Amino acid sequence: MRYTIFGESHGPAIGVTLEGLPSGVELDLDFIRSELKRRAPGQNSTSTARREADEPEILSGVFEGKTTGTPLCAIIRNTDTRSKDYSKLRDMPRPGHADYTGQVRYGGCNDYRGGGHFSGRLTAPLVFAGAVAKLVLKERGITVSAQVSNLAGIPDPSEEQARAAILAAKGEGDSVGGCVRCAVEGLPAGLGSPDFGCNVEGIFAQYLFAVPAVKGISFGAGFALASMRGSEANDPFCLEGDHIATATNHAGGVNGGITNGMPVDFEVVFRPTPSISKPQRTVSLSRMEETELIVEGRHDPCVVLRAVPVVEAAAALAACEVLGI
Ligand SMILES: Cc1cc2nc3c(=O)[nH]c(=O)nc-3n(C[C@H](O)[C@H](O)[C@H](O)COP(=O)(O)O)c2cc1C
Repeated sequence: MRYTIFGESHGPAIGVTLEGLPSGVELDLDFIRSELKRRAPGQNSTSTARREADEPEILSGVFEGKTTGTPLCAIIRNTDTRSKDYSKLRDMPRPGHADYTGQVRYGGCNDYRGGGHFSGRLTAPLVFAGAVAKLVLKERGITVSAQVSNLAGIPDPSEEQARAAILAAKGEGDSVGGCVRCAVEGLPAGLGSPDFGCNVEGIFAQYLFAVPAVKGISFGAGFALASMRGSEANDPFCLEGDHIATATNHAGGVNGGITNGMPVDFEVVFRPTPSISKPQRTVSLSRMEETELIVEGRHDPCVVLRAVPVVEAAAALAACEVLGI
């Protein structure tokens, strides 16, 4: 399976083309809609006020409710855009966002409105693609589930703690980050290889780094391994019925780039949202002068809560690649 995400935040629509899908997969639209709803903005004061239905329109690749196996293209229309909020960002790039790198990379031809192709909005088609991937995986008994594991430095926060931390930062014109932990269960042992392109950790990392604002990934016990002894870190082999398992999963289900049959378990870190309303230092590109920027527009004071289904989507696509689908 290969996928191409297209569109810009303030263009007519965003979307995705999925190629190489197996034919005959029942496309459960209610499930896909419920996944998109989990990511949708404007549901409460902890996310951007932008409100959109995120209703997918399928243009190709589905017939009589099942995938045809030829390219599946779906679009989601942009219906709530306010482009004037962004006009000054063409000259004064936001620190932490991709306004500057996008402009350099695309020779100034990038659509900067609302972050253009770099907007968090482009994670809606990623969630669509991930939902299709989840349906493919479900047929093979594989599930993907994620949750917030850290928010603004609070480990495993309750809903109330998360809300309070986000609203406190928002009240100060600031933003917060956090971590999402994800497990892919049901992948058999023996998939992947130690090589560069086919290493299971490498494949997952590649998909997860395509999620905007992800700045790190670790597997199993991750960076805590640095302070463990071998005797603690090693996952002892044991028998569960007639198959081999491990008593712990500090390796995150991967040894030598190959799945060991335990859940592929990883954590990603999300940076605090770049667009904050506090004054920040930047450079006016037309005047080549340092200046102060106050970012306007509607932004998520924290992307972590909305990113949970996005992480699952990226993991589902990675799992399909690991399976050779
Ligand atoms: C679900 C989601 C929503 C996001 N919403 C915003 C937002 O409202 N404002 C913003 O500045 N960045 C937002 N981002 C993050 C930016 O898109 C991202 O930081 C930017 O593209 C730069 O990429 P990088 O952080 O990966 O380097 C969001 C990310 C995600 C995953």
